[in-house]
Amino acid sequence: MEHGESTEYGESTEYGESTEYGEGTPADDGAPRLTPLAEGRALLEAEASGDERAVEAALRPRSLDEVIGQERVREQLGLVLTAARGRGRAPDHVLLSGPPGLGKTTIAMIIAHEMSTPMRITSGPAIQHAGDLAAILSGLNEGDVLFLDEIHRMSRPAEEMLYLAMEDFRVDVIVGKGPGATAIPLEIPPFTLVGATTRAGLLPGPLRDRFGFTAHLEFYDAADLQRIVTRSASLLNVTVDEDGAREIATRSRGTPRIANRLLRRVRDFAQVRADGVVTRPLARDALSLFEVDEQGLDRLDLAVLSALCRRFGGGPVGLGTLAVAVGEERETVEEVAEPFLVRSGYLARTARGRVATPAAWEHLGLRIPPNAPFPDQAALFGVEE
Ligand SMILES: Nc1ncnc2c1ncn2[C@@H]1O[C@H](COP(=O)(O)OP(=O)(O)O)[C@@H](O)[C@H]1O
Ligand SMILES: [Mg+2]
Repeated sequence: MEHGESTEYGESTEYGESTEYGEGTPADDGAPRLTPLAEGRALLEAEASGDERAVEAALRPRSLDEVIGQERVREQLGLVLTAARGRGRAPDHVLLSGPPGLGKTTIAMIIAHEMSTPMRITSGPAIQHAGDLAAILSGLNEGDVLFLDEIHRMSRPAEEMLYLAMEDFRVDVIVGKGPGATAIPLEIPPFTLVGATTRAGLLPGPLRDRFGFTAHLEFYDAADLQRIVTRSASLLNVTVDEDGAREIATRSRGTPRIANRLLRRVRDFAQVRADGVVTRPLARDALSLFEVDEQGLDRLDLAVLSALCRRFGGGPVGLGTLAVAVGEERETVEEVAEPFLVRSGYLARTARGRVATPAAWEHLGLRIPPNAPFPDQAALFGVEE
């Protein structure tokens, strides 16, 4: 495993043996294989990759005050942390859930920062055996923050060990094998577990119940994203005017990570093709060069919508058929393109297949044919299959 990884989380992190990510994280579990249309879309991928992590570390807010948006989470968490500080105790365990790129890792780091304690980092996929977790837990000091990313991907035996550690600050270390094995209870100092997951629904109830505070991160509105773009621009020494920042914000799919990434591409464009100042026309030119449209749709998204409307009269059409029409794998269409199309109200998944909404026809600049099959209200409001 590469050791360049230790730059991932910035310098405020304390790295022990426990902090290494497993090979191939974060998403090696049957992630859709990318075919040509999908390949070009790394720009709108919500997961961070490779070098990007170092840049992200530089753009991360360091304190709750610096966090933009997510008011409710900020206020609640602020209260939890202030109260814990007042009592001189480690705060309750915190679960952060929400789609990639919305600030889970950022907030975990802020928790450690606000409590002035070191943070240890590990992830679900890195903990394959209960022993891996035992080693991490027994190395903790009082008050440490342990960040467990992708907690839903931890193995079952490790999960069970974690229940006990979270509740009783104890692990049972198994010594020996077979019938002669004995469990030696080992006390661990009070610590705060910060779990992050993109799939809160996959967490077993007993694990979820052991978090004293759960925060669900929501997608950001354009105004918040605009502030994020402006803030990042000043950290990157890029001059962006208000309209330029708004243009980038509205194409960022509600996701700060994407906003920051688009900003970097626009900056490149400004540097090479213009005088370096990011205005609205410049942002528009840059993003159309990178094939990100006004609503943040890329080529794959548009190909899906176009096939759905132009070839299948707006549907309903089965996923497999739609995938063949755009020359992609089923999984790519379903996991890469559809979530955003559904969320932005262009496409509905119904019992009979995929259906284009009136907004989809409009977005493609097409007249809505009189016989277009509009999904019923239930489908539009997310009751799927
Ligand atoms: N509320 C926010 N305010 C400002 N920047 C943010 C905010 N949330 C996320 N970011 C930026 O977005 C990037 C991705 O955030 P991160 O915490 O890594 O997301 P996640 O862990 O949920 O995938 C970071 O570089 C961070 O700078
Ligand atoms: Mg993260």
